[in-house]
Amino acid sequence: MNIEFHKIPETIAIIRGWYSEEELDMIWRELEVVCSPFILVKAGDTLDRSATDADSQPLKKGHGLFLDYLYENVRHRSFILKLNEKLFNKEFIERLIKEDPAFTYFMRTDIDFTLANYYDTQDEYQLHWDKSIYTSNVVLWKTPRKFDGGKFLLTSNELDFDIQSNDMIIFPGYVPHRVTPLVPHDDYIPWKSGRYSLANFINFRT
Ligand SMILES: [Fe+2]
Repeated sequence: MNIEFHKIPETIAIIRGWYSEEELDMIWRELEVVCSPFILVKAGDTLDRSATDADSQPLKKGHGLFLDYLYENVRHRSFILKLNEKLFNKEFIERLIKEDPAFTYFMRTDIDFTLANYYDTQDEYQLHWDKSIYTSNVVLWKTPRKFDGGKFLLTSNELDFDIQSNDMIIFPGYVPHRVTPLVPHDDYIPWKSGRYSLANFINFRT
């Protein structure tokens, strides 16, 4: 596994092609069921918990749901949640720590939450930060891509690491980031052709 490190000045890690072909096939099967208007909730709902502005309005326009709620007591039924173990693999974490000891938090923290997101036409997430020690995020879309925008940018300087489908980015939760508005192509199909993402928030229980 090839890990790219960037100093912004915090060390962030990018893994191109996070899921294997076999894993991706299973992930898509699950995402197609989960990422529907019948299951996901709108930004602002308590089950989405997206960041808000000074007037308590959600900074995200889009849909999401914490899979920890969806699969409460039946986590083993989720392939997505099962594959989270890749993030906590000992050798993987050791490689991160070798680059920057701050990644030791991956060993010290004791809880993580997984948020599934779907961005449809004009959906976006304005500049915000996460209530996490670290956030990891995998972006996915169907190919050929049928939208422009939906770009992941880090910091208020809008650093663009050219995050492509199936790329994983790991960054400290306090680093501001945003997703640019999604602009559909003519052949875009709602609730199908958009931008999917799976975010993991790593934290302490107390
Ligand atoms: Fe975020």
